[in-house]
Amino acid sequence: MEHIPVAGPWITEKEISYVTDAVTNAWYGNANIYHDRFERAFSEYVGVSYAIALPSCTSAIHLALLALGVGPGDEVIVPDATWIASAAPITYVGATTVFADIDRQNWCLSAESFEACITPKTKAVIPVGLYGNMPDMNGIQQVARRHGISIIEDAAEAVGAEYKGKRAGSFGDAGVFSFHGSKTLTTGEGGMLVTDSEDLHRRVLYLRDHGRRPGDKMFWNMEVAHKYKMSSMQAALGLAQLERIDELVERKREIFAWYRGELSQLDGVTLNYEAPGTKSSYWMNTVLLDPKFGIKKDRLIEALGEKGIDCRPFFHPLSSIPAYEHLEAARQARQVNEVSYRIAPYGINLPSGLNLTRELVKYVSDCLKRIIERAV
Ligand SMILES: Cc1ncc(COP(=O)(O)O)c(C=O)c1O
Repeated sequence: MEHIPVAGPWITEKEISYVTDAVTNAWYGNANIYHDRFERAFSEYVGVSYAIALPSCTSAIHLALLALGVGPGDEVIVPDATWIASAAPITYVGATTVFADIDRQNWCLSAESFEACITPKTKAVIPVGLYGNMPDMNGIQQVARRHGISIIEDAAEAVGAEYKGKRAGSFGDAGVFSFHGSKTLTTGEGGMLVTDSEDLHRRVLYLRDHGRRPGDKMFWNMEVAHKYKMSSMQAALGLAQLERIDELVERKREIFAWYRGELSQLDGVTLNYEAPGTKSSYWMNTVLLDPKFGIKKDRLIEALGEKGIDCRPFFHPLSSIPAYEHLEAARQARQVNEVSYRIAPYGINLPSGLNLTRELVKYVSDCLKRIIERAV
């Protein structure tokens, strides 16, 4: 049996020809042609006014926080269960990270827990479309509006997901995406910031280019800022992938449907939840095992690894990992974020790469079933 990776892209001749064209022609006066096309097409796809291609989603969150004026003395709320990249830029800008609990069904930021974490210092919130699921965006928007809090929607994992007919990434003051090699739409490494705000767009363009006014030809820096740019070759790859986005998202949904067919009837096994009115893009097919089996995620990952199956752990609560455990906010989170702490030890991401076949999904599912059967 071949080794089954946990994630990976779907690259065709189209991507190869766009990147070849970029490396051949996107220089001199044409240096930005692929950025322009990729950004325009991406903003249209998400349904927002502006898109800025960046080297990563982490840099997009960093710039969004800076452009929203978040800094020392401010608090920013993130879901406890997410990749550290959602939260790390809060530290970059000198603000304080506050960890809210997740919803027990969609595993994304809980609107109630978000509201309970708000203080007079709260400046922004970063809801995350975990594993391609959609958060309760209306609930989160209502709380944010009531308290005058900015939203940075972290759609790093959720390109193609929808909530009440609107695309992931279009709900906040800014939305951010990742095009890392593991993502549904990839540029190898890369990211995008989207917004409807002309002011925020202008400020991000300036902050990502060493504090120069867009179009500046005199190398005249107004402030010390950052250098966050994507290359033409990456933009060309991103454009080709975006032109195939419906096919990519549909394949993700098909892979999930295969897993659902194999696993959803099993007692004590929970898969990604697609709430009514939402469309998940199923970036990572995720299983939670009932604690009654007594199988924690590290053991499960090891057992599947022995069968040639690569899996990842459900994100450990950020408030539990060494990077944050010393913080007072983390200590508080450990006491109240009941859902994050209940779910995280028993969840794993199953292989979810776009190269999966129905046979491989069956093999993975059969191996998982055997592990569970041995435990009962
Ligand atoms: C939820 C989430 N936010 C942010 C990021 C950061 O993306 P990048 O690796 O492009 O910086 C990731 C990437 O894995 C992610 O999963």
